[in-house]
Amino acid sequence: MVVKRYAHIIGTGSYVPEKILTNFDLEQMVDTSDEWITTRTGIKRRHIASKEVCSSDLSIAASRKAIAAAGIKASDIDLILLGTVTPDFPVPSTACIVQDKLGAVNAGVMDIVAACSGFVYGLSLAKAMVEASQYNNVLVIGVETLSKITNWEDRNTCVLFGDAAGAAIVHASEKPGGILGTYLKSDGSLAHLLSITAGGTRVPIDASNVNNGDRYLKMAGPEVYKNAVRTMTEAAFEVLKRTNLSSADIDLMISHQANIRIIESTARKINVPPEKVYINIQEYGNTSAASIPLALDEAIRTGRVKSGDIVLLVAFGGGLTWGSAIVEL
Ligand code: ACO
Repeated sequence: MVVKRYAHIIGTGSYVPEKILTNFDLEQMVDTSDEWITTRTGIKRRHIASKEVCSSDLSIAASRKAIAAAGIKASDIDLILLGTVTPDFPVPSTACIVQDKLGAVNAGVMDIVAACSGFVYGLSLAKAMVEASQYNNVLVIGVETLSKITNWEDRNTCVLFGDAAGAAIVHASEKPGGILGTYLKSDGSLAHLLSITAGGTRVPIDASNVNNGDRYLKMAGPEVYKNAVRTMTEAAFEVLKRTNLSSADIDLMISHQANIRIIESTARKINVPPEKVYINIQEYGNTSAASIPLALDEAIRTGRVKSGDIVLLVAFGGGLTWGSAIVEL
């Protein structure tokens, strides 16, 4: 008889760099104000990595906490899925560097490039791999050092982003529950809304573009905003349908923390009341792939959610990509 396997999150961890950049600091750098940033985005401060710190460093710190929380050893991990758009290098993958430094000697690894949806993409893959009896302990990481691809002279973007990592151990169990369902989607025809145009093989970095801003993240803010609400609403309803649940069953909604108005607007559209919506954007800004696992780890460690609670994760990001997951903790 084939025993059904379920994919449970058994430990989470997160890490942010020490250095904090406040809205008041940004007032000294570009033509902006604390009032504009707070009312338009909800962000008050963000954490910024120092020059020598990169995505693998943040990932390792977050992963060690997740491994400890799960009560396993690094050698028990058989797969590492790492979502990021800010890898340490083009080659090798950041997941390889993390695997080595963690001592995850039995793990296969890969990076996932899905921008802010990277963690939810990873979680969805982890669920499938665990349920298919391929893997027993999957480390899923969402990490960014967006500060390194931010144009600090562009007020349209530099006020929005922060650096962070979040991680979760997805474990195979015969106990029903865990990650109940997921949904992934994309629309590459909207790639131009959020992109870095130089530094790949289409436009390599050379003397002609090194200083013209093309190696930094550019965004059509208002268009991204509209698509964010539309796609996250769709993703939330779709995963509810797939899991035969309704909005009333959700104990906590953790959406990608891009803008407080996007989060509140999405929650209203899917009928999740404000007290069930997790918001920490004021502390960290938009940390892309790290935002959902960072918030999930905070919610667990502060007791905002407990074992048995139903949590809706919903994300969107550059690509465009979007997705969702419903997890019974
Ligand atoms: N300080 C002061 N004024 C500013 C700033 C700033 N930092 N940035 C823009 N402005 C100005 C604009 O120039 C504009 O001035 P104008 O009216 O004279 O032309 C005015 O403020 C309004 O600008 P809008 O862009 O229309 O402002 P909006 O209310 O749309 O807010 C924002 C902009 C915050 C970027 C919003 O559109 C947004 O959050 N978009 C979504 C961003 C997002 O979710 N990104 C996620 C993906 S990130 C990833 O994948 C890595």
